Amino acid sequence: MFDRNSRIIRDGSTLSFEYIPEKLVGREAHTAELERLFSPLAFDGKSCSAFLWGGVGTGKTAIAKRFCLDMGAYFQEKGRRMGTVYTNCRIKNSEYAVMLDAVRHFDPSFPDRGFALDELISILVRSVESKKEALVIILDEVDVMLKGPKKNIIYQLSRLPEQLSAGSISLILISQYPLATMIDEASMSTFRRSNMISFARYTLDELLAIVRYRAGLALSDGALSDESAELIANVSSEFGDARYALEILERAAHVAETAGESEVTPDCIRTASASVYSDVSEVKLNNLDRNKKIVLLSISRAIKSAASVSMTKCEKTYAVVCEEYNVPAKKHTQFYTYVMDMEKMALLRTEVKREPDGGRVTYISIDNIPPKELANKLEYLLDEEVRGETDLE
Ligand SMILES: Nc1ncnc2c1ncn2[C@@H]1O[C@H](COP(=O)(O)OP(=O)(O)OP(=O)(O)O)[C@@H](O)[C@H]1O
Ligand SMILES: [Mg+2]
Repeated sequence: MFDRNSRIIRDGSTLSFEYIPEKLVGREAHTAELERLFSPLAFDGKSCSAFLWGGVGTGKTAIAKRFCLDMGAYFQEKGRRMGTVYTNCRIKNSEYAVMLDAVRHFDPSFPDRGFALDELISILVRSVESKKEALVIILDEVDVMLKGPKKNIIYQLSRLPEQLSAGSISLILISQYPLATMIDEASMSTFRRSNMISFARYTLDELLAIVRYRAGLALSDGALSDESAELIANVSSEFGDARYALEILERAAHVAETAGESEVTPDCIRTASASVYSDVSEVKLNNLDRNKKIVLLSISRAIKSAASVSMTKCEKTYAVVCEEYNVPAKKHTQFYTYVMDMEKMALLRTEVKREPDGGRVTYISIDNIPPKELANKLEYLLDEEVRGETDLE
């Protein structure tokens, strides 16, 4: 038990979720762009802002955190104060919670209630001034916040620097989707097009370089052959998602370790990738009630292999699926609410598009899993529910 003589894994912590790699392979241009955007802060102490956007696992969060760590070291060298507040808006989903995180950066025991939002804002401004701090606020998954009625937060945050007589408050916003579709003109002015950095999905070669680099940190020398590294890059290149690749790497290393192998074999990778794939959203799907499962099944069937499908088309498929499962079809407004709920859970994504005739149509897409695969899972879960019910009778 607790045998530390691992043959494969040298330092598993470097594959953990919190680990921030020293360098982000293949993202040198993105780092340079961030540096350019933040040079007024480094040189003149001016508040700056950047907006990072792109698909799942394209390195947005990692690059923002790494950049702030490196900038913090630069400031420290110069004997200046810089601080970072990282807030994930999927978890802290209110303006108040975001401001509270920032206030607590200065006063960790600040009470979680009892103040108005405006008061929190002035406390934050006063703290930054008195410490003369270069504060950088990272708002991750900010799209969650911007989709709701809380859009104002960006405007408020972007106006803070004007109120400061000392120090600065800079912003790094991160989202899977472009900003223009989510915020109003006034807030948009802070985030000019030139402040935006887009993250493309990783190519096969980029994934290969990432897998090699991270395996070099985490595994023993020679534990991952070229052939195995290529296999991981290949299976994850469908998504261009580094997280997916690293999850396979981690699980494959554990499979190899448990099996007593001296290296991570292609078979270990196949076993690992099958389990990663089936874990994608498994928990979330299990938590959906029957109505939502049926709605999601209809959407995944309607999409087939297209990139997205209109809500109207989904509802037509939905009517058929309801007959198949012998349940009455819900009305449009209820269907719409289900779709929005599932968007919040990141199971699907909606986008309103303007049609040639000037009308507006909502399109639905599923990004993280092939729709066919999702449909299979849902059919299985729905059948399982029925089996469960008959067992109880
Ligand atoms: N270029 C890279 N070099 C090394 N590791 C990387 C690179 N890009 C991403 N990673 C690693 O891959 C994982 C996913 O990256 P990250 O969390 O930054 O993705 P993201 O773009 O924020 O995705 P999401 O939108 O799903 O939050 C992290 O563990 C990160 O350390
Ligand atoms: Mg992220």
